[in-house]
Amino acid sequence: MSILKIAKMGHPILSQKAKLVEDVQHQAIKKLVLDMIETMIDSSGIGLAAPQVYQSVRIIIFKVPLERMGKGEENIELTTLINPVIEILSAEKEEGIEGCLSLPGMIGMVPRNKHIRYSGFSIDGVMIEREAHNYHARVVQHECDHLDGMLYPSRMEDLKSFGYVDEIQKSEINLHLKVEEND
Ligand code: NI
Repeated sequence: MSILKIAKMGHPILSQKAKLVEDVQHQAIKKLVLDMIETMIDSSGIGLAAPQVYQSVRIIIFKVPLERMGKGEENIELTTLINPVIEILSAEKEEGIEGCLSLPGMIGMVPRNKHIRYSGFSIDGVMIEREAHNYHARVVQHECDHLDGMLYPSRMEDLKSFGYVDEIQKSEINLHLKVEEND
C-alpha cells in the first residue's frame, strides 16, 4: 500500500464527472481502494473520493465517528462504495460544518439532505445498501459530490461562513468571551 498525493481545489480532476468502474473486483481497483484507505488514515480524514487522488473513477471511502452518530444509531465502520448511488428520502435539509482534504485548513456551513438511502459495491464486490440520517447522510453526500465534480463551497448558501478553521475558531472564542462579558 502507499500514501497517495491529494489533489487540491483548482485542479481540473476535481471538477470532472468520474467514470463508472466496469469491473468492481479488478485487482487494480482493490489496490486503489487500499491506497485510498491508507491515504485517508494518514491525513486524518473521515472520507475520500477517488478523484481526490487523481483517479477519475466512481469510488468513495468513509467512516462515521461514533460521537457523530445519533442515539440508537449503529457505528459505521470504514466503508468502501464502488459506483455508489444515492436516493433522497426526504427533502428536509440541515446545515452543518464541512471540511475537505482538497481544501486543507478550511471549513464552511453546508446544507444537506437529512435522510437518504445509498448503495454501492464493497471492495469484495458485495452490494451494500443502507439508509442514513444526519451526519452519516452528510458524509456520503459530500463524497458522492466529488464523483460529479462538485466541492462543498458550491453547495453553500452563505459564503460568509466559509473560511480558515483557525480564524473561525478564534472568532468563535472571541464571540464566546464577549457573551460572557455581557452576562
Ligand atoms: Ni471532500
